[in-house]
Amino acid sequence: MGISQKIIDQRESLPTFEYKNELIDAIREYNVLVVIGETGSGKTTQIPQYILEGLPELKKIGVTQPRRIAAITVAKRVSEEQGVRLGSTVGYTIRFDDITSPDTQLKYMTDGVLLREATQDPHLSQYSVVVIDEAHERTLETDVLFGLLKKTQRLRPDLKILIMSATLDVEKFSDFFDGCPIFEIPGRTFPVDIVEYKDAQRLASLKSNVVDHAVDAAWHVHTEESAGDVLVFLTGQNDIERACRAFQERVKTESTRCFDQSVKETSVYPLYASLETYDQKAVFEQPKEGVRKVVFATNVAQTSVTIPGIRYVIDSGFVKEKTYDANTGMDALLVTEISQAAAIQRAGRAGRTAPGKAYRLYTQDSFDHMLPDTVPEIQRSSLLGTVLALKKMNIVDVVNFEFIDPPDEKLVRNALKQLYLLGAIDDVGKLTALGHKMSHFPLSPSLARVLVSSAEEYGCSHEVLTMASILAGENDLFRAPSARSRGGQQAVMEAEECKLRFAHHAGDHMTYLNVWYEWKRHDKSRSWCKENWINHKVLESAVSVRRQLVDVMDKIRLPIKRAPRWTPDEKKKKKKNGRIGNDEHGRQVDPVPILKSFLSGYFTNIANKGANRAVFSHYSPDQHLTEGMTAEVNDFMGSPSSSLVALHLHPLCSFSDMLDRNRIRYSELDWVMYMHVTYTNKAVMKGVSKIVWDWIKSGEGRDRIRKLPNTRLNGEDAPNVLEMDHDAQEAEREKIYQDEKKQEV
Ligand code: CDP
Ligand code: MG
Repeated sequence: MGISQKIIDQRESLPTFEYKNELIDAIREYNVLVVIGETGSGKTTQIPQYILEGLPELKKIGVTQPRRIAAITVAKRVSEEQGVRLGSTVGYTIRFDDITSPDTQLKYMTDGVLLREATQDPHLSQYSVVVIDEAHERTLETDVLFGLLKKTQRLRPDLKILIMSATLDVEKFSDFFDGCPIFEIPGRTFPVDIVEYKDAQRLASLKSNVVDHAVDAAWHVHTEESAGDVLVFLTGQNDIERACRAFQERVKTESTRCFDQSVKETSVYPLYASLETYDQKAVFEQPKEGVRKVVFATNVAQTSVTIPGIRYVIDSGFVKEKTYDANTGMDALLVTEISQAAAIQRAGRAGRTAPGKAYRLYTQDSFDHMLPDTVPEIQRSSLLGTVLALKKMNIVDVVNFEFIDPPDEKLVRNALKQLYLLGAIDDVGKLTALGHKMSHFPLSPSLARVLVSSAEEYGCSHEVLTMASILAGENDLFRAPSARSRGGQQAVMEAEECKLRFAHHAGDHMTYLNVWYEWKRHDKSRSWCKENWINHKVLESAVSVRRQLVDVMDKIRLPIKRAPRWTPDEKKKKKKNGRIGNDEHGRQVDPVPILKSFLSGYFTNIANKGANRAVFSHYSPDQHLTEGMTAEVNDFMGSPSSSLVALHLHPLCSFSDMLDRNRIRYSELDWVMYMHVTYTNKAVMKGVSKIVWDWIKSGEGRDRIRKLPNTRLNGEDAPNVLEMDHDAQEAEREKIYQDEKKQEV
């Protein structure tokens, strides 16, 4: 592959280029160096290449990115600039997707990937240089890496560590690394005019209809401002897609044209982290002559990716952020106000190539009341996975781990407690054999625990692997059409019909399995997915995730077993109106071991339906779980939390549809387990299945947790709603199971 003159010119025009030799000298001289420079100045794409070109003795360079999308797009770009195939000398690794080879010298990866590598090999021996990029983002993983790198540095004095950051808070990084030097790349930015919202009442009302306001503002820019692309900051995928549609609708229906004659039309793009790579690419390309690009984006466009040509920024003032509630033990994505630092960054995106303008959809007063800096993620997340990773590296005293900004001790203790309850650590806080197994999975500790139990205790890892692979992704399996879009009502009805066809009376987990087998029966067809309102990306990625999880299972010698299954009674099948957990051969799969496996990882995510019809109460088993613990354990875990939160079913839950259509009755639901909670205007559960109180009471799957109360259910235990056709079919089921086993051998 040749390298075009255009690429060479582009590379040489970047602010970093002037400092190429000085940078190379500084990296040669210092083992830890902080480099700062405006976003877009060439740090991410250029500096690693300078090392390749100027310091060939440094064999392998690893560069972290907080986001998957950045790791992919940057690796692509750099492989083009180097004139090599992606995956050869330049590649990337993100969770479940590794595009590198033994020849790879420059590897972009998410910070999470490097963190996992560090747990396996604390020396990071494959790298000569580790670059922590976008350090200002202060993600949980980046912050943990800082602490780890300080340790690695002592083990390996030859390792080069480079911290790259936009202009914020760099003294802190340098201080953390014993006052290491800071290399500043002077910015080349243009002035940005800030237009603030004048109406003070507005902000309060804004949060609920922020999309409309943003679309209005974008329309204003399109019609009133001269040529230049527009970048609109919103909070999430749904809002972004809604905004794109609303804007396009307006282009179609309103005849207003831009007063600037050179702007003939617009092209509208969404940009968010989970968007498929192919769809993302267009955003970064130059639009045709006379076309104004309008990009509706999440925070991903704030610092991690640079879209060329942006002259106008519209800032909603909000961001969707991970927020952890230590009392309920729940991680949730919440829409929150941004910080002043973020507002300044966002506005700055308008002044990259020419003077620009930033419209803020909030007042000066609101700006003054914002937090000066964004709270680092580590101070607002569940630390379950982090603490498990640290334990894996034999860091016993996690409470005193060297963090750049230490999290609240309560967060650490909470994670320790959860890990203890999961059986991953013992009374003195040491990793157990089970914990070791769990740490091999690139999954949350809870989901890892589920896989281990499904293999070791319940003999259904074959099915649980499938469900875990679907759950490991970030997207929902079912697509939900919006009632507001064109043909909306009709589509909503249609999608509901489809979901009902797959719905399993035990809940979402078994429903996923139904979808999976049906999809396989249809040769994994995309058009089948489309017809059935199913997100094919989720299933396709689940295939590759599943394969990788199987590799992990093999490595740590966990058996892959199928749950019992049997041929359903035809009459019953008719009565139940369709499918009941049918596998690819039309047989019924036993949900009980599967749900018990899930409960072993998610026993803190359970809720009980109250008298009030639609509302569930989150049940916090902490007090009871910790009752039998020794004093030392209680000491390192702190006091138990107690909480009761009202929870609702998410509309995507299979129970929601089944209840709507009277397929099941509310009285049939008692205890449920859920995979996570999101907040809209209320707390809603996703990934919900029925469980039986008996399972909780007997501390299913958690050998140390036996002391559970009998208070609520003394004499009024919930009926075993999941006892389906067991008795009648027992004999046949055993027979099939045995046949199956023979076949697998
Ligand atoms: O890391 P930093 O923000 O300093 O800059 P960068 O990401 O290295 O980007 C340098 C330049 O490369 C910017 O002008 C981007 O527009 C361009 N770039 C690109 O054209 N395509 C990419 N996938 C990434 C960057
Ligand atoms: Mg960068």
